[in-house]
Amino acid sequence: MCGIIGILSNKEVGNSLIDGLSRLEYRGYDSAGIATINQNTINRCRAAGKLQALKDLVEKNPLSGSVGIGHTRWATHGSPTKRNAHPHATDRVAVVHNGIIENYQILKEALISQEVAFQSETDTEVVVHLIEQELQLGKSIEIAVVESIAKLEGAFALAIIFKDNPDILIGTRRGSPLVLGIKEDELFLGSDAWSLAPWTQKICYLEEGDTVIMCRGSNFTYKIYDANNQLVNRDIKQLNLATGAASKGGYSHFMLKEIFEQPQTLSDTLLSLVDEHNKTIRNELPIDFTNKNLRIRLIACGSSYYACLMAKYWFEKTARILCEVDLASEFRYRDPVLNSDDTCLFVSQSGETTDTLAALNLAKNMGCLTVAIVNVPESSMARSAHQHILTMAGPEIGVASTKAFTSQLMVLNVLSLYAASARKIIDNHTIAEHITELLHIPNFISQVLQNISEFDQLGQRLSQARDALFIGRGTNYPVALEGALKLKEISYIHAEAYAAGELKHGPIALVDSATPLIAIAPNDSWFEKTASNIQEVATRGAPVFVLTDNQEFNVKSCEFRSIYLPKAGTVANCFIYTCAVQCIAYYTALHKGTDVDQPRNLAKSVTVE
Ligand code: AGP
Repeated sequence: MCGIIGILSNKEVGNSLIDGLSRLEYRGYDSAGIATINQNTINRCRAAGKLQALKDLVEKNPLSGSVGIGHTRWATHGSPTKRNAHPHATDRVAVVHNGIIENYQILKEALISQEVAFQSETDTEVVVHLIEQELQLGKSIEIAVVESIAKLEGAFALAIIFKDNPDILIGTRRGSPLVLGIKEDELFLGSDAWSLAPWTQKICYLEEGDTVIMCRGSNFTYKIYDANNQLVNRDIKQLNLATGAASKGGYSHFMLKEIFEQPQTLSDTLLSLVDEHNKTIRNELPIDFTNKNLRIRLIACGSSYYACLMAKYWFEKTARILCEVDLASEFRYRDPVLNSDDTCLFVSQSGETTDTLAALNLAKNMGCLTVAIVNVPESSMARSAHQHILTMAGPEIGVASTKAFTSQLMVLNVLSLYAASARKIIDNHTIAEHITELLHIPNFISQVLQNISEFDQLGQRLSQARDALFIGRGTNYPVALEGALKLKEISYIHAEAYAAGELKHGPIALVDSATPLIAIAPNDSWFEKTASNIQEVATRGAPVFVLTDNQEFNVKSCEFRSIYLPKAGTVANCFIYTCAVQCIAYYTALHKGTDVDQPRNLAKSVTVE
């Protein structure tokens, strides 16, 4: 989603702004722009499409100035054109924005009635005009900003520069993330710390409602006001983030590289939670599962939600704990019944997803223990939750989640084991056996990846399809859901996943010779039932592709192919078959020629609801 950079410096900032934006590209965007102040004018350059288009323009017409703001826009209000690209500006003020101004229509109508002319279709543009009006009334820059943002409803992070005062850069946030980067002779704003990392690792995470006024005088200073306009001190963190540009390391796409990293990331995640020699769980997990009335609520969006669906099987079967799973976007608005015995787990790769973060704050305000399972240590969720557990996947650049998803599964599985142990449902011997199975998973994933050409062939075949169906039972059902989502996201093929037992209740009407079925069918306790469902679909003329470890399995159909995967236990299968569906989606997209790492319309970090 939208990314923000702001720089106040003694040096030219034009190229640095673009450099900062390049580190926000992973978030997903469809236009970009920068603005600087020079010789008492606001200079802007904006372009639709990729950052390269903006770079090309700036190369031809460099923007001079030592204060500036930059933006990558993920279109919400108004199409992804140059006109709608940020920064938005009047003669005196320029603004970049991440979030949505929900009451923009009312504000816009009021401004239009006062003869204000709008240049774009965006919600953001109201912000510049509001500030401009306050400045015209002779108010100071600080008051003009504070009074303008008081009129805004919705979520925003804003960076603002002023024609008449090139020594000031202002940042403010409500709902959307914004960090302040500090150096002796430069100050920065960024949507995340990673975007600022090559410049400074001295970071201050602005809190909800904070406004930072950054000034250049004989030295560089800043003041932070909280939501009540009180001057506050915020902690400054010294981070230790990698600064090198993310590299594909010889792979054709980040997604493929990240798929191949899974043996390592799964091992790293597992070993952060268990002792591989004693086969015990490290006793540092932040949840007291001994409370008999405890209920677990798992809340997330997208793939992270599917990780939660998988975890429900584990918590209920292994630990016998009632566990409910919710989409964050539904949970936050449906007035959920929560009580102080509820432990709410929020699962998020980015730790920034707006709906999940809002759901977390809701549960926290209702007195529940909140635990974030996140891949980004300093993310908003990690900082907002009472406790957090890290998935050790490392930075994930591909928009389609792969290694972060499987690391989430690993954390959730160990947590369910820990819960079962705390409730004395399983003994140490069973825990050791379970951990042994988990320790084998990286090796199984490597075996799957050794035969990747099979997925290439299947991907070639699927790339001709317009629709596809995925089925699975038990824990294979969330794998099917994840497979369908991955395929949709990167190949744009319409795919749906069903619990195999549900087919007859409607979806079987979709079956025809043009709609391939992909069945997740390891030879487990659900296999016989799934096999019957596959047979029913084959009989009705669908091409059938089965992921299985059962070499005997065969059905008569117009087209039938099995991909054999390693024989493993039910828990390891969740990881093995997930890796398989990731590879299928990857090769299908590759053969279709779609943008694997930055698929259309999608964002890595979904910071609007
Ligand atoms: C996964 O491939 C997707 N890009 C998406 O569904 C993602 O899982 C979802 O937006 C949630 O993101 P989060 O894990 O960062 O909260």
